[in-house]
Amino acid sequence: MKMAAGDQAIIGRRDALAAGFRDIVGREWVLDKEAELRPYECDGLTAYNALPLLVVLPETTQEVSLVLQFCQREGIKIVPRGSGTSLSGGALPLEDGIVLGTARMNRILHVDARNRTARVQPGVQNVRVTEAVKHLGLCYMPDPSSQAIATIGGNVSENSGGVHCLKYGVTSNHITGMEAVLLNGDIIHLGGDFLGGADREFDLTGAVIGSEGLLAIITEVTVRLVPQPATARVLSLGFRSVEDASLCVGAIIAHGVIPAGLEFMDRRIVDAVSSMLGEKHSPEVEALLLCELDGTRTEVDKLVEEVEAIAREIGVAELRISKTEEERAQIWLGRKSAFGAIGKISKDYYCTDGTIPRGKLPEILKRMEGLSKKHGLDYANCFHAGDGNLHPIIMFDAAKPGDLERAEAFGEDILKACVDLGGVLSGEHGVGVEKRDLMGYQFSNIDLAQQQRFKCAFDPDELLNPGKVFPTPCRCAEFGRMHVHNGKLRFPDVPRF
Ligand code: LAC
Ligand code: ZN
Repeated sequence: MKMAAGDQAIIGRRDALAAGFRDIVGREWVLDKEAELRPYECDGLTAYNALPLLVVLPETTQEVSLVLQFCQREGIKIVPRGSGTSLSGGALPLEDGIVLGTARMNRILHVDARNRTARVQPGVQNVRVTEAVKHLGLCYMPDPSSQAIATIGGNVSENSGGVHCLKYGVTSNHITGMEAVLLNGDIIHLGGDFLGGADREFDLTGAVIGSEGLLAIITEVTVRLVPQPATARVLSLGFRSVEDASLCVGAIIAHGVIPAGLEFMDRRIVDAVSSMLGEKHSPEVEALLLCELDGTRTEVDKLVEEVEAIAREIGVAELRISKTEEERAQIWLGRKSAFGAIGKISKDYYCTDGTIPRGKLPEILKRMEGLSKKHGLDYANCFHAGDGNLHPIIMFDAAKPGDLERAEAFGEDILKACVDLGGVLSGEHGVGVEKRDLMGYQFSNIDLAQQQRFKCAFDPDELLNPGKVFPTPCRCAEFGRMHVHNGKLRFPDVPRF
């Protein structure tokens, strides 16, 4: 993956530009010293880094609007950033662009318990929403693993997923509206403040969700709140083979059960986690499934019995079922610690999130084995099995020459295999720079051109997070000209009724 070199003319004007931004947001909220910029040099995709030109930290929508107007006038690129937990490089800075951080826009503005929504600023961390409404028996359901740090603005930009998304849907299913600022400083309002109040015509709320900072800067979000499930229990199902675990995933869903979460961990992950947490699993276990069921007590108890029967029928080697909240938390701790535990078994790792139709699970797992041999790198698997959302964790040593490139090539082959099997490049982490050069594998040139026209309608100067998502520049000026005929704007003939 190559990023374009920074524009030297802009970099040379850094001090003057910093002064311009300071006039808008105040002295201390523009960072320009190397030591201050360093923490922003990368996001969760740590293999890539760059020092931003400046970091600008506005506090209000009005300030965001002025910052964007200034950027448009001066031709400065903007990389939006929440907490920087993106795994696809969405918040990777540009040498000739500012990072526009939302850390100071971190207030929960209004909780509407009757309509079950909350209006929050983009810098609010995901878990804080649930913390704020717990006493009302409500919660914000999407739960990316980074939820203790990741912000709502970042979640919306990436359309984040999480363990609970199998039953409850991803971020896009939990947003009713938002306020955002366009590059020219215009403040727009999309959707509404309650479920059902969303746009019925052009679903621009839906378009901005998952747009990875390429369309507008999100300054307020209205999220849906849902009742906290009355009870939840989790089954930990250890199987003798990856195939048996995959079979069980299919059988649970085919039976009509929709678990609140259905997660897969292979032997390598189970070992790493066990050694970190001091847990013990049967040596027979080659793959572990965690299946959470939620609802009323009676409903959950019945579903637990049904899933247990399905697992026994397939031939489960180890079975644990939580009876208390402590036991449930204990079982989940293994999954939640999985990515941290990889440090025990590998110097570096690269985790991607290609997604396949669930039924292709055995096939993709088989292909991964072959690809691991082809690239000579080990890998582990820990993923959202119920959604077919894979997280192959490719292990490498960045200090070894060529290892990173091999890891990337391995990841690329897995992602292509996902598309070949009827899946998609990203289930929840986004495209960013990580999968940018593969977009042509999933989309035709016509598809991509139409997506770019849409981007140009929002950001005609291509200053919002350029270099992300699209493998080629959008060439907005050219796309713009296509609408002009003989110097006049022409509308196509519309049939009349
Ligand atoms: C998870 C992140 C990596 O599922 O998406 O833990
Ligand atoms: Zn995930």
